[in-house]
Amino acid sequence: MSNTGPESTWVFGYGSLIYKVDFPYLEREIASIEGWERRFWQGSHDHRGTPEAPGRVVTLIRAPAAVCKGVAYRVEHAVFEHLDHREKNGYERHAITISLLSSGRQAGGILYVAGADNTAYLGPAPLPELAAHIARSQGPSGSNRDYLLLLADALRELGDPDPHVLALEALLPDP
Ligand code: SIN
Repeated sequence: MSNTGPESTWVFGYGSLIYKVDFPYLEREIASIEGWERRFWQGSHDHRGTPEAPGRVVTLIRAPAAVCKGVAYRVEHAVFEHLDHREKNGYERHAITISLLSSGRQAGGILYVAGADNTAYLGPAPLPELAAHIARSQGPSGSNRDYLLLLADALRELGDPDPHVLALEALLPDP
């Protein structure tokens, strides 16, 4: 394990935290975690949908053999005020070991995961239904379609062609 230091902590981003970086950080590295997989199973009342018509955003589910790639940021502790607010719709901090892929280090850190017990959780549905839901949703942060397309592009850039995300991208009906 390396340098989490008393003043900073690594945060692993696997969804919008990969491509929408609206916070300061001390270091950034492409990274991975073991034992988790992305799913568009979390409802979004405050970013890509509304309480009346929630959008769908990613959370993680346990998958023992899986490796999930993303981006890790080393942030000062003050940044958590912003991140906790941004992720407040059902996500909770979870401690995790992060592999920092460029430097080959391992670091303790946290990620935000939305479990099945939060009130905004929507859970699984057939992929065509998920894609149709995403295509019609939008909220204060923009369209749900853009959330999916930006994530799919970011994952291609990271070299992590996540089959769940790319299948939904392929199924998106035309705007
Ligand atoms: C994350 O990006 O790590 C959490 C989910 C999201 O905000 O999209």
